[in-house]
Order: sequence, then C-alpha cells, then structure tokens
Amino acid sequence: MEKKINIAIDGYSSCGKGTLAKALAKALGYVFIDSGAMYRAVTLHMLRAGVDVNDETAVSDALNALQIGFVNNADNLSEVTLNGVSVESEIRNIEVAAKVSEVAKIQSVRTRMVALQRAIGQSKGVVMDGRDIGTVVFPEAELKLFMTASPAVRAQRRFDELIAKGDDVTLESIAENLQHRDLIDASRENSPLTLTNDYRVLDNSDLSKEAQFDLAMDWAKKAIAGN
Ligand code: CDP
Repeated sequence: MEKKINIAIDGYSSCGKGTLAKALAKALGYVFIDSGAMYRAVTLHMLRAGVDVNDETAVSDALNALQIGFVNNADNLSEVTLNGVSVESEIRNIEVAAKVSEVAKIQSVRTRMVALQRAIGQSKGVVMDGRDIGTVVFPEAELKLFMTASPAVRAQRRFDELIAKGDDVTLESIAENLQHRDLIDASRENSPLTLTNDYRVLDNSDLSKEAQFDLAMDWAKKAIAGN
C-alpha cells in the first residue's frame, strides 16, 4: 500500500488554505482538518457564554466545559462541532472573526486544540491547515506549504464569500479584520505563524485554483514517494 503522509498548510488569513487543503485531501483520499474552525468554535462558545475573551482565566475556566469535534456532513465534508452540534455556519461570521485571534493566542486554548489535532494526525493521511501546523502540531509533516497572497486579493475573496452567504459586510471591515488577525497571529508569544525554511511557499495572488492544485499535488506525490 502507498505510504501515507501528513500535509501541513499554514499561512495568513483568507489566502485559500482551506480550498487547497480540501482538494488535496479529496484527491489523495485523506482526511481534511480545518484547525482554524476549532479556534473559531471555541470563540463562538465564549461569545455565547458572555466570557470576556481578554480574560485568560475566564477563557481557561470556560474551556473545561466544552467539547470540540468533527462530524461528516451529507457531502462527506467534515464540519466542526461544539458540544456535539455542528456550528460550521455560525463560526464564519464577522463577530467570531473579530475575536478569534484573541482567543487563539491563549496557551490553554492552544494546548487543548493541539492535543486533539495530534490525535487526529496520529495515523497519518491528514491534510490540516492553520497557522502552526508545520511548526508545532506536526513538525514531522512530510510536506509543509506556506500560502500567501496579496492583502487586497485576500480581502476581496473573503468579502465575495461572505456576501454570497448573505452576510452584511463591507470590504473595508473585512480588510481591517484580516490585518488585525495577521498581526496578532504572526506576533503572539504562543506558536506564532512563522515561515521556516522547511516550507514550500505558494503565493497564489495570480494563480488559478487549478494551477495551485497541480503544483501542490506534484509536491505531495514527491513527498509520498519520499523525495
Ligand atoms: O479562514 P481564515 O484564514 O480566515 O482563518 P482560520 O483558518 O479560520 O483561522 C481563524 C483564526 O484562528 C486565525 O486568525 C488564528 O487566530 C487562529 N488559528 C490559530 O491560531 N492556529 C491555527 N492552527 C489555526 C487558526
């Protein structure tokens, strides 16, 4: 049987990590895990419970009362669950996006999520996207991709996505949110987004989804073959 590997995809907010990760997982028959969805689900819980996300002790306490998991939907795509209920749609709103980076910088939150992520990746065959997948979660991942795109392209993509969903947002508010999250995610003390020299960099500002997929698939095949 062909060797299974883990693929880590890290990078800035809204640069298409999820799209590529899903396509790779489908083509390889691997499991796709959106680690950002887990931090978003924790944030949703804090907002619902009225927990001040800047109060680390309150967040840590509330964390003990929640369960994060995944279920497969009718299209066989995984959806994140909060206390057993899918929250896939709710976690994408701007209220959650506004607070998620504050929650994700808290060490107790990261420790819980990383333990879950590692358990999922234990038997290999996982494509996981996030900020610290190749540096902290799976430092031994056989293929690590670092994705990036220009801020204007990223803001426009996320704006189009949310408008298509019927959300009432402006391009300016999206651009501000991406900038806010990028700054916190790359400068926080715990597991910051960091480009180390074992990543392959993929700037997709001017790449079609197909071209990006072909490039990444080629790297994946080489990694599976052990090159
Ligand atoms: O999809 P988008 O690029 O907007 O972000 P996401 O992957 O859904 O992640 C949301 C937020 O979760 C990020 O801005 C980070 O603050 C946090 N995150 C993290 O800290 N570590 C990860 N492995 C994944 C996400």
